[in-house]
This record gives sequence, C-alpha cells and structure tokens, in this order.
Amino acid sequence: MSLILAIESSCDETACAIIKDGNQILSNVVSSQIDTHKKYGGVVPEVASRLHVENITIVIEEAMESADVSMDDIDAIGFTLGPGLIGSLHVGNQAAKTLAMIYDKPLVPIHHISGHIYANKFVNDIEFPALALVISGGHTELVYMKEDYQFEILGTTNDDAIGEAYDKVARVLGLPYPGGPQIDKLAKTGKANYKLKIPKVEGKYDFSFSGLKSSVLQLIARIERSGEAVINADVAYAFQETALDSLIAKTCLAIEDYQPKHVLLAGGVAANSRLREKMGAVDKKYPNTKVTIPPIKYCTDNAAMIGASAEIAFNKGVRCTYNASSDSSMDLLSY
Ligand code: KG4
Ligand code: ZN
Repeated sequence: MSLILAIESSCDETACAIIKDGNQILSNVVSSQIDTHKKYGGVVPEVASRLHVENITIVIEEAMESADVSMDDIDAIGFTLGPGLIGSLHVGNQAAKTLAMIYDKPLVPIHHISGHIYANKFVNDIEFPALALVISGGHTELVYMKEDYQFEILGTTNDDAIGEAYDKVARVLGLPYPGGPQIDKLAKTGKANYKLKIPKVEGKYDFSFSGLKSSVLQLIARIERSGEAVINADVAYAFQETALDSLIAKTCLAIEDYQPKHVLLAGGVAANSRLREKMGAVDKKYPNTKVTIPPIKYCTDNAAMIGASAEIAFNKGVRCTYNASSDSSMDLLSY
C-alpha cells in the first residue's frame, strides 16, 4: 500500500490531494484563482504566485483533514517540478520540500503533463501500448507509451496550443477567461453556417492552431464588410469543429500506425463536451482500441493526477533532493 501527498501549483490552481495506491482519491482540494485572473483576461504570473503563497498551507491542511490522515501515514510527497509558471511552481516546490524536510519523507518530482496523462488511472488501468492526446493551455501533443513512464512524443503543435487557441478566439468573441468552457457552451447553440479550413501542417502527427485563429479574425472581418451581423455562436461552432477535427484526424492516423490498445485523453481541453462526443465515435471506429477520458474535474489542473503519476514514479525509485529547482520548460522524462 502507498499513500502519496501530492501538490500542484504550476499555473492558477493551488491544489493538494491524498492518493492511495495510485488510483484511490482520499481527498482532492483545488483552490482556483480564475475569478481573480478573469478581471485581467488571463493569468497574471505575479498575482498567481502571490495567491499560491496565500493558499498553499490551507489547501494542504484541508486535504489532510478531509482524507483523515496524518503525516505519519504518508509514504512520499509528489509535487509538480515543471513545466509551468516559474513563480507558481516555486510555491508548490517549497511547500513540498518543507514538508519532506520536517517529516523526513521522500520527495518525488513530477512532470505536469505526466499527471494529466495518469489522470486516466481514475477511470481505468492503463493498457499498453497506449497513445495519449495531451491537450491543455500550454500543450498539444500525441504521446506514445510502450509502458509506464516511457514517453515518446510523436507530434506536437508548431505554434499555439489548442487551449491557447480556444482562449484567444474566445477573447475575439468577447468571452471571459478561460475561453475554452465558454466556447464549448456557445458552440452548442451554433450552426454550420461558416466554413473554416483545417490548418495544413508538415509533420505527420503535428498540429497548428495560430493560422486557424487568424482565419477566425478574417472570417469576422469578411462578414462585417458584407454588412451582415456576425453570429458569434456560429463562429464558435465553426472554430470548434475545425480545431477538434484536426485533433481527431491526427489521433486517428496515430491509432492506425501504432495500433495502441488504449487511447488516453489528457489536459484541460479534454473537458470539452463536443470532443468527448467525437471521441465516442473514434472508440467505435477502432474496436481493438479502448478510449478513456477522465471525469471533467480531473481533466483541468488538480493534484490528484499528480498523485497518480507520483505513485508510479515513487515505485520506480524517482526521487529529488532539496536542491531540485522548478523548471518552467521541463521535458517529459522517461524513467
Ligand atoms: O490543463 P489545464 O487546466 O491547464 C494547463 O495545464 O494548461 O488546461 C487549461 C486549458 C485552458 O486553455 C482552457 O480554456 C481549456 O483548458 N479548457 C477547455 C475546456 N475547459 C478548459 N477548452 C475547451 N473546452 C472546455 N470545456
Ligand atoms: Zn494542466
């Protein structure tokens, strides 16, 4: 049996979770800063780190209390070492080191994206080889995994991440931050009235979204020039269908080439309702491949996913010292 205390603070969520045996969530506390950052239309890094400092001890205490465990019960402390906002990462890092030092616990450094991938363990055991579609505010990647903690990046975005594109297009449509859930909601009332092209990319499994954002701007300008009213819901619909279809097309290519047993969705954009629908069709299309999507609250940033990843890393002997520095552009390492 293992009990992991996990800490996540890479962006604008201060989070702590207690995870038993890698997939049982004894507690999962997330303090979101969204209401503060909304006022500025996006995350303000200095404000984010200050709020992490204010919240981190409260969140840790809450997670311990609600799991009804004491520090004596904890086997290891997992925390997000990177990537993310450097000031935000530092706060979780210092909290983890302080607890490890005081209570003499092993420290397990975790890559944020590995956490997003292992959030799927809360739904199913992962069957290998697996293919993860990582889609968040900072990442868009197809990751092939022969086994646990063996990450091979097959493709990535040449420019914007998919979540970033959602957030930018939302701003163009006058929607608040974070734009992903707003577009998700608005597109439900939209129709296939406007057409946008799937951006062309060279790399077989690569993506591109900055051109799509420009196409949205050009589309709006064209409609305005013609004297017609822009129907925002239809723009949201056109953007979303095009963006998601490009994700699905590349995922299907990788499924056909690599024949994974399991496809895992990972990251905040996996919370998207239309994508979840479309992935249902992908699941049916490939009977030898199972598709798993974590519940919405484990798609967006949380510490439970860091605990799931930390349990595997802990058992593989991954450790760091009190000198480990947060790494804002950390590579996804295999162990
Ligand atoms: O994984 P995450 O919480 O943080 C990062 O690691 O980046 O992802 C945040 C991103 C944001 O861009 C947000 O707009 C997007 O996920 N997102 C969504 C939805 N919910 C969150 N995008 C599309 N549809 C959603 N329902
Ligand atoms: Zn994330």
